[in-house]
Amino acid sequence: MTKFDPGFLWGAATSSYQIEGAAAEDGRGPSIWDTFAATPGNVDNGDTGAVAADHYHRHREDVELMAGLGLDAYRFSIAWPRVQPSGSGPVNQRGLDFYRRLIDTLLEHGIQPWPTLYHWDLPQSLEDAGGWPLRDTAHRFAEYAAATYEALSDRVPHWTTMNEPWCSAFLGYATGRHAPGRQEPAAAVRAAHHLLLGHGLAVQAMPDALAGITLNLTDVSPASRREPDVDAARRIDGMQNRLFLDPLLRGEYPADVRADLAGVTSFDHVQPGDLKTIASPLDFLGVNYYSPMLVEGGAPPTPSAYVGSDRVATVDGDRPRTGIGWEIDERGLLEVLLRLKNDYPAVPLYITENGAAFDDEIHDAGRVAYLERHLQACQQALRRGVPLKGYFVWSLLDNFEWSYGYAQRFGIVHVDFATLRRTLKDSARWYAEVIDRNGR
Ligand code: FCB
Repeated sequence: MTKFDPGFLWGAATSSYQIEGAAAEDGRGPSIWDTFAATPGNVDNGDTGAVAADHYHRHREDVELMAGLGLDAYRFSIAWPRVQPSGSGPVNQRGLDFYRRLIDTLLEHGIQPWPTLYHWDLPQSLEDAGGWPLRDTAHRFAEYAAATYEALSDRVPHWTTMNEPWCSAFLGYATGRHAPGRQEPAAAVRAAHHLLLGHGLAVQAMPDALAGITLNLTDVSPASRREPDVDAARRIDGMQNRLFLDPLLRGEYPADVRADLAGVTSFDHVQPGDLKTIASPLDFLGVNYYSPMLVEGGAPPTPSAYVGSDRVATVDGDRPRTGIGWEIDERGLLEVLLRLKNDYPAVPLYITENGAAFDDEIHDAGRVAYLERHLQACQQALRRGVPLKGYFVWSLLDNFEWSYGYAQRFGIVHVDFATLRRTLKDSARWYAEVIDRNGR
């Protein structure tokens, strides 16, 4: 690999429910993921995040690991139910204190804290009241954001509001593969809007923050040049990418996506002024990228996350796959980055997640190869003028991979879930060398 600019930010990412454990400690309230994981059949092997990687108790050791790797920044998420156990009202100081300790430990080690305010662990009480399909949840989120920002902004400049609102909305409320496990297509579209609205309100509630949002974007191609396949690609690109990018960066929903969704919702949940709020200026956009999508149209109707496009099917490409079955194709990352540069107003970009699950334990050549190819795609993007400012590998630690439980390991650091012992994988050592070679 050629060299990255010395100012390029090198990081690693995790999220609260996936690593913290300590689910009932220091006043934390239940989240939708506690409830969902406790319900048999929802998560492979009956796994839950009750202990996870026990990061809540081992954060000092974990920060020392990060410092050993030479990381510039650590992307983690703040568990809303630690800060507001029932999703509203006064803050729980003991919950905030945990994040203060974590942030102070990071700063002592010269590592920038990059918190995300919402990585899917909605307080259960807010779901009981209606969840993200309810407009009020956006206002509750902005209050939580304001309180957390007030408590921690003396130490933290960069604030990410949401992680992957697509997953919260469409896996949570359309397919039910994620918490809260509902299968209500119209509610999922409302949820997407209220997640975006919550983001915009939160940006406005954090006046001096460097504020951003993280989206899971992908490159969608048609399986052939046949019209139904080309239309399928347009639809899936609309639902996966443009349904979020257009409101955030252009202040409007894409007309074709609204038309595709006409049988699902009339968009009467969108109130005057909402799009202006959602399009509040961003200081950065986080991009999570794992794999591209190849799609075809004219398939038999099946319920899917792509509400309004139930005749679309994904098609297997012919490239190798990671252990979780996701196709490896770094060209998709380059396409996503070029598309952002070419089609949208300029905004500084960070890869906030990229990585691979493989079940080889310590000698993880597959993960090293995956990361190397994707970093090469980043370099190509930079050469072509994409304003890419940094890269966070997913993930620092093996962790609770949502409905796959602990079976899918994305960490560059191995976690033995019986003893909670951490061991650097070859990919961690390789990543440390990459950081070192690039000017640290
Ligand atoms: C992303 C999530 C992250 C992790 C990776 C593999 O969609 O943001 O928590 O599960 O996928």
